[in-house]
Amino acid sequence: MQTIAFLFLLSCVSCGAKDDLIEEPPYEEPNEQPDELPEEQPQTTTTFKDAPYLIGCAVVPSLLQNNRMYAEVVQEEMSSITPENALKMGALSKGHGSYFWDDADYLVEYAADHQMRVHGHTLIWHTDIPGWVTRYSGTREEWIALMQEYIHEVVGRYQGRIASWDVVNEAFNDDGTYRKTIWYENIGEEYIRLAFEFAHEADPAAILFYNDYGMEYSAAKREAICTLVKDLRAEGVPVHGIGLQMHIDMYRSASDLKASIQAAADCGVWVHVSEMDVACNPEKKTDFTFTDKIAQQQKASYQAMSEALLSIPADQCFGITFWGVCDVHSWLTSAPDAPLPFDSNFEKKPAYDGLTGTFGK
Ligand code: G3I
Repeated sequence: MQTIAFLFLLSCVSCGAKDDLIEEPPYEEPNEQPDELPEEQPQTTTTFKDAPYLIGCAVVPSLLQNNRMYAEVVQEEMSSITPENALKMGALSKGHGSYFWDDADYLVEYAADHQMRVHGHTLIWHTDIPGWVTRYSGTREEWIALMQEYIHEVVGRYQGRIASWDVVNEAFNDDGTYRKTIWYENIGEEYIRLAFEFAHEADPAAILFYNDYGMEYSAAKREAICTLVKDLRAEGVPVHGIGLQMHIDMYRSASDLKASIQAAADCGVWVHVSEMDVACNPEKKTDFTFTDKIAQQQKASYQAMSEALLSIPADQCFGITFWGVCDVHSWLTSAPDAPLPFDSNFEKKPAYDGLTGTFGK
């Protein structure tokens, strides 16, 4: 695999060298390949697999199965995968006691075949809930039993094969108050503690995360999340990590990134940048163009994120997961954008070097 990666990289570098020569007249022998690469060409073979923490991405089974270049990038660059949708309740639960496992099974097997970690996303969330659950009418005890049965079924099925889970996702509003989810309304805020306990019962070795967005821009939300995690841990509840989604844009300051990652680390838990992308067109302009200047600004954001993660203790760095593989498959589709380290042709963008440049520093 490393040989393939090296040849791929070498071919990209060679193409670049040839293009440079063609654009600089006079050039008399257009078909002749240069004997040696020009000195200014980067010679590095550093990839995401050389990172001092695990780098991964959210994946979609049909793309892994049907898109060769997509699968190549995942296999050559990623050490961890997160199913983008296949492990959500809406995808898995087809009725009380009825499950659709095919996509999730495929991804778990795929990861095992390619020596990758699987991060499970997500057990309890306010969205992507199947119709039978939204229509469910039961007592508080029956809702707790429903949640317990679901978590036991899903986490138990993948015990020992899915290393970690986003147990509860997005439980807070930006002002730090509890989001009034179906779980909150029917069980109360205790649903969070129970969800972690049920997941731990089903797989005592799994690393269990609270996952959310907005810790980088809302001090109130950051405070609420850290307080929850510290309080639960003080009570002996098995919460092992905080996932910061980090759907950011290129204007987010490095100090915001560092402060939120540091706050999570100060809770004494694993820290996962769990859904990273860097939007370059947050204004949602219809005539957006990904210029060199924008590419450099986006690179700085990726670099700042890696530096922030590397500034906390190494034994708390769970990794960085991108929310997708390349730009064309990103969830950010409401306006043209280019949020990921690989472009729509699966070529590395400056953002890629923004990350790799921080390795080994
Ligand atoms: O699979 C169906 C397909 O059969 C149908 O034809 C199609 C028609 O719209 O819908 C498909 O399902 C969509 C699914 O993505 C797969 O593409 C859903 O409608 C769509 O709502 C779903 O969106 C996902 C969203 O979460 C909601 O689950 C996005 O792909 C996914 O990127 C996004 O991820 C979330 C994280 O889970 C939590 N954090 C925020 C992040 C971004 O919103």
